[in-house]
Amino acid sequence: MSLALDAPAQSAPPEADDGVWLECIACGGQFAPFDDVRFTCDDCGGLFEVRYAAEPTWDDFEGEGVWRYAAALPFDEGVSLPEGHTPLHEVPRLREDLGVNRLRIKHEGMNPTGSFKDRGMTVGVRVARELGVGRLACASTGNTSAALAAYGARAGMETLVLLPAGKVAAGKVAQASLHDARILEVDGNFDACLDIVQELATRGEVYLLNSLNPFRLEGQKTIGFEILEEFRDDHGRFPDRIVLPVGNAGNTAALYKGFRELVTAGAVEPEEVPALTGVQAAGAAPMVEAVEEGNDGIRRWDSVETVATAIRIGNPVNAPKALPGIRATGGTAVAVEDEAITEAQRDLAREGVGVEPASAASVAGLRKLREQGRVDADEDVVCLTTGHLLKDPEAAYEAGDDPEPVANSTEAVLEHIGAR
Ligand code: F0G
Repeated sequence: MSLALDAPAQSAPPEADDGVWLECIACGGQFAPFDDVRFTCDDCGGLFEVRYAAEPTWDDFEGEGVWRYAAALPFDEGVSLPEGHTPLHEVPRLREDLGVNRLRIKHEGMNPTGSFKDRGMTVGVRVARELGVGRLACASTGNTSAALAAYGARAGMETLVLLPAGKVAAGKVAQASLHDARILEVDGNFDACLDIVQELATRGEVYLLNSLNPFRLEGQKTIGFEILEEFRDDHGRFPDRIVLPVGNAGNTAALYKGFRELVTAGAVEPEEVPALTGVQAAGAAPMVEAVEEGNDGIRRWDSVETVATAIRIGNPVNAPKALPGIRATGGTAVAVEDEAITEAQRDLAREGVGVEPASAASVAGLRKLREQGRVDADEDVVCLTTGHLLKDPEAAYEAGDDPEPVANSTEAVLEHIGAR
């Protein structure tokens, strides 16, 4: 089974529901998608991709948001709030400072619950409904839990989330709580939480909605479709590079899959596919290690730490899909220090774009790659910012200036601001 860019994304369909089936990326085994609940290959334990008998082209897309791309999704509509159709901001001062030909920020923090996870959940929860499962669950560094709680609530389904105790930003816990998820705080990191949820799913206790679930990634691939369409409409071409933060590497895998489908359909030439460029925090960088060392798999990091708690992950489960994507598109991966992440968060905020720390990692990564001469000045670049500033109020407060106390009078205020 090949995940190469020029290999057809599709293969002959088995006897499956409506031209949709699951295919193992390791052994090529094919399974009907909705007759039974499965997350990984029955035969070899490999990761699944969703396959379709029909390939999408630009003309098939109509409407707005994730479901604009229904022709490339397993259903025509989902459990929707709605999601997608996020801004692609220009940031002229930052572009000048970083010295690239074009720089656009795809702000996924503008989704209904404030992160790109909503794109995955609108599809994933729709599939859960199709399967008739009882309880939805995920492990999360925060955003997945907020999105699952909201979409589960929308669908009227029970949700359970496992969070690493003390390591999830306040805004995200507040969302999961108010949207009525049952929240379990685990004395361990995200990877430990995911181990447990996988085990619960295997035992049939829950339906897993982490990015191991291939249907989640179907929704998330629409980020790539939107970027290509909007960038082309504005600039007459596709971007050379997409820079994105990496945790479990689900988004990297999702974008790559979407691009492969467009290449197979002849909608995009292989050489037009943007170079997928992953950024991790230096304290949690197993993907960067694998790319730098040329390894096919990743080494699990047991101890991880970073201010960007959303990507505080030591065992990126989608690495077998994402590593081929980074390589086949001519991309790379880079690690950035926490100070650089906070500085990039300030840079974006000064352009009016408010993001949480993990999101700013993309811009910090681009800066480092420019400094190292690994990204050229003539490139057109899109940085993905994955979550909203308000997700992590404490980090924002730390990164910004403190409020200044002042006495209760106009004179005192004038004196304080030096207006006299
Ligand atoms: N950025 C943000 C804001 C995230 O919340 C995540 C992942 C990522 C980037 C990394 O994306 O896993 O597709 O490489 N957050 C997950 C969660 C793990 O539980 O919310 P990835």
